[in-house]
Amino acid sequence: MKKTKLKLVTKGLKKGIKKGKKDVYWPTEELKKNAWINKKSIYKKAEKDPLKFWESLAAEGIIWDKKWKKTYSEKYPYFQWFIEGKLNVSYNCIDRHLQDKKNKAAIIWEPDSPEEKNRVLTYHDLYYEVNKLANVLKNLGVKKGDVVGIYLPMIPEGQISMLACSRIGAVHNVVFSAFSAESLKYRLKETGAKILITADGYYRKGKVINLKAKADEAVKKTKVKKVIVINRAGIKIDWNKKRDFWWHELKEKADSYCQPQAMDSEDTLFILYTSGTTGKPKGIIHTTGGYLTQAHWTAKWDFNLHDDDILWSTSDIGWITGHTYCCYGPLSNGATILIYEGMLNYPQPDRWCKIIEKYGITVFYTSPTAIRMFAKNGDYVKKINFASLRILGSVGEPINKEAWEWFFQNVGKKRSPLIDTWWQTETGGTMINSLPGIGPFIPTLAGRSFPGIRLAILDDNGKVLPANKEGNLVQLSPFAPGMLRGIYKNHKKYLETYWNKFGKRIYFTSDGAWKDCQGNFRIIGRLDDIIKIAGHRISTAELEDAITKHHFVAECAVIPLPHEIKGNVPIALVVLKKVKPSLKLIEEIIKQAEKFIGPIARPDQVFFVEDLPKTRSGKIMRRILKNILTNQPVEDISTLANPESVENIKKILRK
Ligand code: PRX
Repeated sequence: MKKTKLKLVTKGLKKGIKKGKKDVYWPTEELKKNAWINKKSIYKKAEKDPLKFWESLAAEGIIWDKKWKKTYSEKYPYFQWFIEGKLNVSYNCIDRHLQDKKNKAAIIWEPDSPEEKNRVLTYHDLYYEVNKLANVLKNLGVKKGDVVGIYLPMIPEGQISMLACSRIGAVHNVVFSAFSAESLKYRLKETGAKILITADGYYRKGKVINLKAKADEAVKKTKVKKVIVINRAGIKIDWNKKRDFWWHELKEKADSYCQPQAMDSEDTLFILYTSGTTGKPKGIIHTTGGYLTQAHWTAKWDFNLHDDDILWSTSDIGWITGHTYCCYGPLSNGATILIYEGMLNYPQPDRWCKIIEKYGITVFYTSPTAIRMFAKNGDYVKKINFASLRILGSVGEPINKEAWEWFFQNVGKKRSPLIDTWWQTETGGTMINSLPGIGPFIPTLAGRSFPGIRLAILDDNGKVLPANKEGNLVQLSPFAPGMLRGIYKNHKKYLETYWNKFGKRIYFTSDGAWKDCQGNFRIIGRLDDIIKIAGHRISTAELEDAITKHHFVAECAVIPLPHEIKGNVPIALVVLKKVKPSLKLIEEIIKQAEKFIGPIARPDQVFFVEDLPKTRSGKIMRRILKNILTNQPVEDISTLANPESVENIKKILRK
């Protein structure tokens, strides 16, 4: 029988993206025609009056229970959007679609094993589940403003839990399931969560992982009194009769409708922890109206979301991308999302391709690390039918030219534009990208600031730099609606991190960048002590803290080194107390990182050194260490308190 080829691609896109100047790609006429936004004038219009621009987007895209009284207010260092407006996020993501999309797939879940059956939840299914869980939470005593911890793998119950919290006005704090018990405990303690939603376990590369055991460990000595457990893996777990409840049992008894709570636009929707420059992660606060407005419109325009789209964002819900583009953005648009439990290259390197083919994914949003992994021995993609793909996306770290070109040519087949999106946990939604109907798409340049968002490049004295000059990437007032509204219980840190460097009305992103004459940004990377390991944000201080907790470690410095696939990897230089270096100790030090943070923070290499180069005031000179590790010349060391340490370290590394 003749095979019918999938024909989801809009006409004309197949012809390919017109190539203008070398390495600059433009949308075809067809793509322009099909795009929500195809006129450059939108940038000027938004720039002229950003408040009016966002106001019209909020009114058009979001359903409000009560319209706001004032669009924006700013009182250093805080600002607000849609003041006194009332809305409910779960209503906006679910109930509003029940009229015309009741039977449409909202979430498709693909399990780790290709052999296991998938799950498809229609918008009505999602409505049912969210209402039930919202009532369960209420029955367990959760009230508006209470924090609910969520520690779940990639299963639909992640989204269901987030939406159930938003339905009743509870604040969710999602913790990445691969984070350690210690990391979870820290977040539960800080937020004072009284309830945790977790699962018995999940599958990763065919192996079952007992998540509940980590959750049990984490809740000790916290305020968590109730744990809701989702039966995902069907494994044997420890059970505390007074504290633990099976979700499926609670569901049976709960009512199937829960009135959505009208929330204030500035009520907190969630707290999400991310690494800062100190040893302790910081709780980024996102609120309701502004965040949802930005999530909704960036999802719609960046990915040109239409009714027949299936968006697969490969992020975990434990990250901001998982919140904004695996949940709130696409669902508020009534789109279908795919979520996948496992590793992109399991059981074979082409698993991600098989998923794209199986579901006819139209928007595929992933990270440069994943793209580099795909490209390595990537001949297998030749056999794959990528006809369904319309848009490719990249996020989380600077994408190198080779990876960009490989992805665009071999997966996008030169007809699906690659949208490189720059943003942060703090910004809530994308801030820089090339809109699909406008372009241009230039390898390694992320694009322009999203309409209505004002970004600039400043020198260290706060002077605006001309085109092509590298400097500090900042945001100018009025600050985008999806921006953070503070750091949980830490006003001082909020001030210091974002508002100190350039004064009152300038948000410092901590990224270095330059922009070309057309306003397209090139992101260089972090200017602070944050390492992007495979796109994950890890602070060197946090990792050093974890390592120095080992009883034999006197001191430690963590240095990022470039890595072919992961972008960067951490290298630990460790000074031991009076013990002999050994392989066992190296293993133990690596385990420290896993214990206090999680496997993503594992040092790539550990070196034992006698001393670390320090200034006379005792500050470790990480720049010198980086130069030594990368074979760069080490500049003047005469100001060091211990200049001999440099030669000693070189000797050890040579060994
Ligand atoms: O350095 C930038 C980098 O990721 C940082 C934010 O990390 P996180 O809060 O974990 O959020 C990642 C997902 C939104 C930024 O300060 N980054 C993010 N996107 C890009 C990027 N670097 C270069 N290009 C990007 N597209």
